Amino acid sequence: MDQAKGLRQIARTDALARRKATMASPTKTFPRVIAVTSGKGGVGKTNIVGNLAVAMSRKGKRVVIIDADVGLANIDIVFNLRPEYNIRHVVSSEKSLDQVMIKTHHGIGIIPGGSGFADLTQLNEGEKLTLLSEFETLADKADIIFVDTGAGISSNVLYFNAASDECLVVATTEPTSITDAYALMKVMSQKYGSRHFKLLVNMADSEKDAKRVYAALSNALDKFLKNVVLEYTGYIPFDRQLQRAVQKRGLLLDEFPDSMASKAVESVACALLRDGDKNRADGNLTFFMNRVFQAAR
Ligand SMILES: Nc1ncnc2c1ncn2[C@@H]1O[C@H](COP(=O)(O)OP(=O)(O)OP(=O)(O)O)[C@@H](O)[C@H]1O
Ligand SMILES: [Mg+2]
Repeated sequence: MDQAKGLRQIARTDALARRKATMASPTKTFPRVIAVTSGKGGVGKTNIVGNLAVAMSRKGKRVVIIDADVGLANIDIVFNLRPEYNIRHVVSSEKSLDQVMIKTHHGIGIIPGGSGFADLTQLNEGEKLTLLSEFETLADKADIIFVDTGAGISSNVLYFNAASDECLVVATTEPTSITDAYALMKVMSQKYGSRHFKLLVNMADSEKDAKRVYAALSNALDKFLKNVVLEYTGYIPFDRQLQRAVQKRGLLLDEFPDSMASKAVESVACALLRDGDKNRADGNLTFFMNRVFQAAR
């Protein structure tokens, strides 16, 4: 083992010990982990995560984004960043999480997943411990952690959804997006006992259209998955300004702050923050990564 690795391991043990001490303190708060997910791909998750993160960081929140999309990871593209390292380097103890995390000019921390989260079932105990303790170090650095999970019902998406405090499902008004959102919630409830989801409708023409998507999904849940509750979080209108921002390699909130979609993102961010700790699980980040590993068994 090289010296840097050895020092990191010592620091890790120290961090865990410190953590145990702070966990005893009743005033300690832990970051809130929000998974942003969808049944169908291309519904706007990554742009939503990026812009919600900006909106929340402007409100003084310390935000970290975990790119857990092992397919085409692209939160870095939304922020126009070129990450040199990713979670794979953390798993192999070559880098600490801090060294892998990139800070945007907004102050948002981005953790590129790369292929590092690709097959969590293959990690050995040492690698799991490394990830657990590295994630612990985030506890004092973030108020909100967004997990961009990628689309669909592949194992990885499910692990991160199951482990997060909240699961924000993004759907559009397209029938396939609605049926895929339903399929995702069904699998989550059957496999992991998930009982609570939040819905964000993207690319809707109006609030009325968005509410229709919500009604269709909650009716289906009432009928077939009685214990599952879906909460309406809001909607973001279809807005060409968002596409223009993407083309400019910028973020909607930076490029077109007065656009309709920007206003909508801001009000969704406010709604989420208002929601506060209502749906929190028992929260610290060891629990979060542990839940990921449990789901990945
Ligand atoms: N509100 C919106 N109005 C107009 N276009 C939008 C809106 N939201 C997203 N888009 C378009 O959809 C594209 C895909 O968005 P994004 O990459 O965020 O989706 P995704 O759900 O993360 O996709 P994937 O499932 O591949 O990860 C954007 O590049 C943009 O062109
Ligand atoms: Mg994406």
